[in-house]
Order: sequence, then structure tokens, then C-alpha cells
Amino acid sequence: MTGREAAKILLTGKDGIVSLNLFYAGKQVLGPTSLLQQTGEAHKRLRRLIAEPLSVDGLKKYFQFINNLAIETLDQWPGRTVLVHEEASTFTLKVIGNMIMSLEPTGEEQEKFRANFKKHCKDTSEGEDDKLTDTQLKDNILTLLVAGHDTTTAALTWVIKFLEENPAALERLREEHMEIQGSRKNGSSLTWSEINNMPYTTKVINETLRIATILPWFSRKAALDFEIDGCKIKKGWSINLDVVSIHHDPAVFPDPLKFDPSRFDEPLKPFSFLGFGSGPRMCPGINLAKLEILVFIHHLVCRYKWSPLEKDDSVQPTVVRMPRNKYPIIVKPL
Ligand code: HEM
Repeated sequence: MTGREAAKILLTGKDGIVSLNLFYAGKQVLGPTSLLQQTGEAHKRLRRLIAEPLSVDGLKKYFQFINNLAIETLDQWPGRTVLVHEEASTFTLKVIGNMIMSLEPTGEEQEKFRANFKKHCKDTSEGEDDKLTDTQLKDNILTLLVAGHDTTTAALTWVIKFLEENPAALERLREEHMEIQGSRKNGSSLTWSEINNMPYTTKVINETLRIATILPWFSRKAALDFEIDGCKIKKGWSINLDVVSIHHDPAVFPDPLKFDPSRFDEPLKPFSFLGFGSGPRMCPGINLAKLEILVFIHHLVCRYKWSPLEKDDSVQPTVVRMPRNKYPIIVKPL
């Protein structure tokens, strides 16, 4: 299905008409208590528990870790071919892995996040009913890892690619970051409050997600018979929402393939931008994803200019759309 009306019906899932349609392998890997397999009240409750450690306040304490990691990653970039997709993948895996899975069990920060996540999910709720079992905890840690890693990797890679291809946008974005850097006292580094004041970069991220449409379709299963735009849908059918056609609709986004972050200067029509989805299944990792990208882009544009080593616009035909060639570049100090 396509169109904003279909998006509204399918994503708000009004009157319980749809549930998420997870493919078989996803069900097996993520486990029966994953957020992606829950519906109705159980889904709402789990979302509430998961939302807390991923909220703006919950993420504040991981800012320094993410900031240092971005600086360390970028320290390694000069003098060699950089496959941006691979670097972004390692960066985002380290962030989420260190936060929730404790890849390095001795790390103090990781232990703190695990304790915190467990605390939020197990102890802070009102009653027995609101406590998660260890299976639920395991399934949902894995869910966050799977849902949050490739998506953020792809988004960061596309942002870097689109900025290079659109020099006017890069110049304006760099001005935003140079101004932030210039207003700092000597020697001090990026701060949490600076991250929360990067309006142009936020529009660049949105425009990137619109053009690239990292998740090109959202899948739902009909829980009842219903109709969209005169099209009769039967209970049990799978329905895919084609997000690319919504993001590239010339009636809403004139000249849709043009990279133009100013499209986000004004509020958009409802259900026309679905980079992080909408409704009860809207991405709970939106703050973390934006934080990682803003921090990384800040250090990148304040230190380097970069050029691609080949021209290739082809897209990897996977569930998450990425540049097929991993976007090889070389960087030079500004
Ligand atoms: C730029 C990066 C990201 C993009 C573009 C993105 C996009 C999306 C979209 C479009 C959906 C809704 C899919 C649907 O309605 O069928 C979604 C759901 C979800 N996302 Fe993200 N996401 C990103 C990062 C993250 C991160 C960092 C996490 C976790 C740490 C995460 C966890 C999830 C989860 C668990 C869901 C399912 C929510 C539910 O079913 O209630 N995502 N994401």
C-alpha cells in the first residue's frame, strides 16, 4: 500500500486492526517475548519499560562515552582509505554493545548501563506484574541490538555521503559546528547542551532519512477484515506499506530526489515523513540514533574534508538500505 492515508491506518493500528508482521527468522532469533512480537497492552507495557533508558535523560550519562569513541574513531582516519560504512558499523556496535550487552565485561560504563536497564525494567515499576523475567530481558536486549545497529550505521553513512554530494548543505552545516566550537573555552570538548542545539544538522539527518529511506517498507498483519482506499483486506493478510513512495511523493516533496534540508523548516503534513515510523511502534531508539550521528558529524566536519574514491550510487538490497560499495573515502585535515 502507499499514501499517507494508508500510513495513518496501518501505523496507528486503530481499533487493533493490525499487528507487526515479523518474518519467520526474525521471530526465531529475537525470541517470543521480544517487543516486536508483542501486541496491545503487553506491547504498551514493554515499550514503557524500554523507553526509560533510551530517553533523553537516560542517555545523558552515555554522552561522554559516545563523544570519546567518535574522537578515537576519527583519529584513525587520516592517511588511508576509509570505508565509511565499516567504520560507522564498528562505532554504532561499540556504542550499543557497550551500553547494553557489555562486550567488554570489565568496562565500568557497560556494567552501569546493564544495571540501569535491568533496574528500569525489573524494579522501578509499580507491581509484580510490571517485572520482566530474564527471558524477556534477554529477548529485548537482543531486539534493541538488532533494531538499533544496522539502522544507525546506514543513517550515519548516508549522512556523510549526502553531505559530500551537496556542498552548500555541507558548508551550512559546518558553519553551525564551527560556531559551536568557536564559542567554547580553549581546550574544552563538545557538551550535552551543545548537542541539543544543532537545528540545521537535525534537518540534514531528517532529509537523509527521507531520501535514503533506510527501512523502505513496514510490514503489518491484518487482525480483522478492513478496507483502505477501497481496497478490501482480509484478516490474516500481510500488508506492506511502501515508505519510499511516500517519502518521494512530488506532491509533498517537490523535486523529491533533491537533497534539501530546508524542507524541514516548517512542520510537514502528518504521515509524510516516516524516517522513524509513527504511531505506537514509532522507533524508541530515535534519541540514541540522533545522539550518535550528531556527535560523530560534529567531530568529522570540525576536523576534516573528505572525498569519495569512487562514484557508485547503487544500494545494497537488504532490509536496511545501505550504499553497496561501503562508501570509500579519503580525508584531509581542514
Ligand atoms: C537512524 C537509525 C534508526 C532508524 C532510521 C530507525 C527506524 C525505525 C522505524 C522506521 C521503526 C518503525 C518500523 C515499523 O513501524 O514497522 C523502528 C522501530 C524500532 N526501532 Fe528503530 N531506527 C533507528 C535506530 C534505532 C535504535 C538506535 C534502536 C535501539 C537502540 C532502535 C530500536 C527500535 C525498536 C525496538 C523498534 C520496534 C518498536 C516497536 O515495535 O514498538 N532503533 N525504527
